[in-house]
Order: sequence, then structure tokens, then C-alpha cells
Amino acid sequence: MNSIPDPLVERARAAALGAYAPYSRFSVGCAIESTDGEIAVGANMENACYRLGVCAELAALTAAQQAFGLARIARIAVAGGDGSGESLAGNAVVTPCGGCRQAILEAAHVAGRDLEIVSANGAGTELETRRISELIPQGFGPANLSDAA
Ligand code: THU
Repeated sequence: MNSIPDPLVERARAAALGAYAPYSRFSVGCAIESTDGEIAVGANMENACYRLGVCAELAALTAAQQAFGLARIARIAVAGGDGSGESLAGNAVVTPCGGCRQAILEAAHVAGRDLEIVSANGAGTELETRRISELIPQGFGPANLSDAA
């Protein structure tokens, strides 16, 4: 854990303000940096059919794929909390959900890097940095399909 300001986390916090989260009222933003310093962002987008909601990380991954390609992903930041004010607020650090960890694992395979994920609380005052291999140990990835017919 650390509290050194990180511009990528600030982009994730700002992206969270663009969330559509009327059901959970929990806003999540994700910012993805390329190896060349480009940044793609996404936020969660919920649905009246609750299970069809899209997480911030998946939204940002598709934006990154369009902007610079999964192969050039260098680093990912996630922040979540109360997005009802002028800036994202909240104390609890948000780490990617299980499904998003799986999607990041796929991106890490394409990128050929054990991607770094910075998780932040809403206020951006608490940061936790982990690699995807730590977030989803023994994960099922493309290599596990080697025996497919
Ligand atoms: N959410 C994300 O966007 N990313 C995560 O990693 C955790 C959860 C969203 C889904 C839902 O819209 C809201 O946060 C509450 O679960």
C-alpha cells in the first residue's frame, strides 16, 4: 500500500464519474496505459437486467483494444466509490472482480507481460499495486487450451 499520487489512478477516478450505475450507485473507473503512454478509459455501465451490467475494466479493455491494441497494454489502474459528487469519494480500495481478472489475464497473454494493476479507493488516497499473476494465481489462460482438437 502507498499514497504516492499516480496520474493513471487520477484518470481512473475521473473516468468513474462517467459511470452509469443507477442500481448499485457504486461508480468504478479504469484507465489503461500503453507502452507509448497513451491512455484508454472505461467505467461501469449497469442495466435494469442486473446481470447484464458491464464492469469498468471490461469497458476500458475494449477501448484500449481499439485505441492501441491489447499487445501494447503496459499498466492498469482501477478506482471505485461514490461518484455522486464533483470527484470520486470513498475509503475502500477496489480490486478487479473475478471476471475482470480473467479478461486482464487474456490481455496479459496478448501483451506478453505480467500486467501491473493499481487498485485505489475512491478518494485516491490508498493505492495497492499487484501483478495479474498475483490476482489470479493458477488462472486458466490460452496456454491451457493446448490440447484442444
Ligand atoms: N464493478 C466494476 O465495474 N468493476 C469491478 O471490478 C467490481 C465491480 C461494478 C459492477 C457494478 O456496476 C458495480 O461495480 C457494483 O458491483
